[in-house]
Amino acid sequence: MAKKDTIFFCQSCGHESGKWLGQCPGCKEWNTFVEERKMSGKSSAKASISAGNKRTEPTALKEIKIENEERIRTGIGELDRVLGGGIVPGSLILVGGDPGIGKSTLLLQVCQRLSFSGKNILYISGEESLRQIKIRADRVGRFADSLKILCETNLTAVEDIIRKNSPHVVVIDSIQTMYSEDVTSAPGSVSQVRESTALLLTLAKGLNVTIFIVGHVTKEGTVAGPRVLEHMVDTVLYFEGDRHAAYRILRGVKNRFGSTNEIGVFEMQGVGLIEVMNPSEYMLSGKPEGASGSVVACLMEGTRPILVEIQALVYQSNFGLPRRQATGTDLNRINLLIAVLEKRLGLQMSSCDAYVNLAGGLKIAEPALDLGIVMAVASSFKNRAVDDKMIVFGEVGLSGEVRSVSMPSLRVKEAAKLGFNVCVLPNVCLSTLNEEMKGLEGMKLIGVASVRDAIDLI
Ligand code: TYD
Ligand code: MG
Repeated sequence: MAKKDTIFFCQSCGHESGKWLGQCPGCKEWNTFVEERKMSGKSSAKASISAGNKRTEPTALKEIKIENEERIRTGIGELDRVLGGGIVPGSLILVGGDPGIGKSTLLLQVCQRLSFSGKNILYISGEESLRQIKIRADRVGRFADSLKILCETNLTAVEDIIRKNSPHVVVIDSIQTMYSEDVTSAPGSVSQVRESTALLLTLAKGLNVTIFIVGHVTKEGTVAGPRVLEHMVDTVLYFEGDRHAAYRILRGVKNRFGSTNEIGVFEMQGVGLIEVMNPSEYMLSGKPEGASGSVVACLMEGTRPILVEIQALVYQSNFGLPRRQATGTDLNRINLLIAVLEKRLGLQMSSCDAYVNLAGGLKIAEPALDLGIVMAVASSFKNRAVDDKMIVFGEVGLSGEVRSVSMPSLRVKEAAKLGFNVCVLPNVCLSTLNEEMKGLEGMKLIGVASVRDAIDLI
């Protein structure tokens, strides 16, 4: 019998199977298997990442010389922070995001900054023509001559160019348009994406160039193609944001060279992406004064405190089953916190509609928001506004107790910086804070042990 030359791949996790399966044994997803031609023997997926370096024996740690331990700063502070202090030479960085969110613009701006630092930059596009790239570049500003543009989708040609020009930084826009002749399936398919990334990994490590890969995301919000892509690269960044809001958030999801909790905030303008240095100010712009149901809370994104406005609207429902809606936070959490208010404080909210909204369009699941949500809901319920100069943070437990949160001092300092002078926080955080708060005389700290203490302040 002739050997079968097709194979089935799970599109979500990359699991291989000889026959079609309804449910993937790897990730338990349904209907994710697609048929593809088998790869030929010369697959670069099997190539070693030490290409260009003949040695295959083990090396003692102290013998490994790092010639270029300096990170390359892109000059875009928000990006450098997410990368953990700049680009590590020889790393492979995946930038994922919805179409039209600004991935190409961001990377073109990275190329722009780097071109002025005398680095050789190569921008390879498989999606846009030279003319289209030029039009975008004209919006973004002036470029130095060390940036070269190439429109190419054939991976062998891309490899030749990279080997010949030996650039410091390469951008591949996007991985779904690249194809290798060794693989017979269509560009964008699981095996093509996998093969292309494997080859780029070989080049990045072998030639010590940094390669940025743009990846499109699926409906579910992960990079199209197999999850293996995320395993292969050194750093995974997601560019997200509301299509209708101008601001964009760059989030580190995986980073072999730094923390993954950091975010970078940008705003899309007519001249490309502008860094938002102080996101708190940005998030609080337009906050109403003296309105009930509006409370400012402080959350942490990595090492960075951000103030956000929580808005709640609670009123008597016209229906038997009250509506509960959350924008920017988890609806289940809202229901739970409302239940705590009912049970522990006796607020009769079971017949009330409740809407909770994080102004600015952020999506946050941090428990430190709990106390802010509780106070916003209670403030709207009682129709009494809270102090405009007050910020709130703390986690709320099921017994109505207020529990401690991480890094209280950073949160209080951020609030002081933006002109707030009252801070409601978990009682347990007070003792650790008093030492550090010597410099902030104008700030009044109110420790609360339970939700009741906090609601009494309204
Ligand atoms: P783009 O970088 O092409 O997105 P992606 O590569 O993620 O698909 O971003 C395109 C969007 O950004 C497009 O809708 C136009 C807008 N844009 C601006 O508003 N200002 C600008 O200066 C540029 C270059 C783009
Ligand atoms: Mg693009």
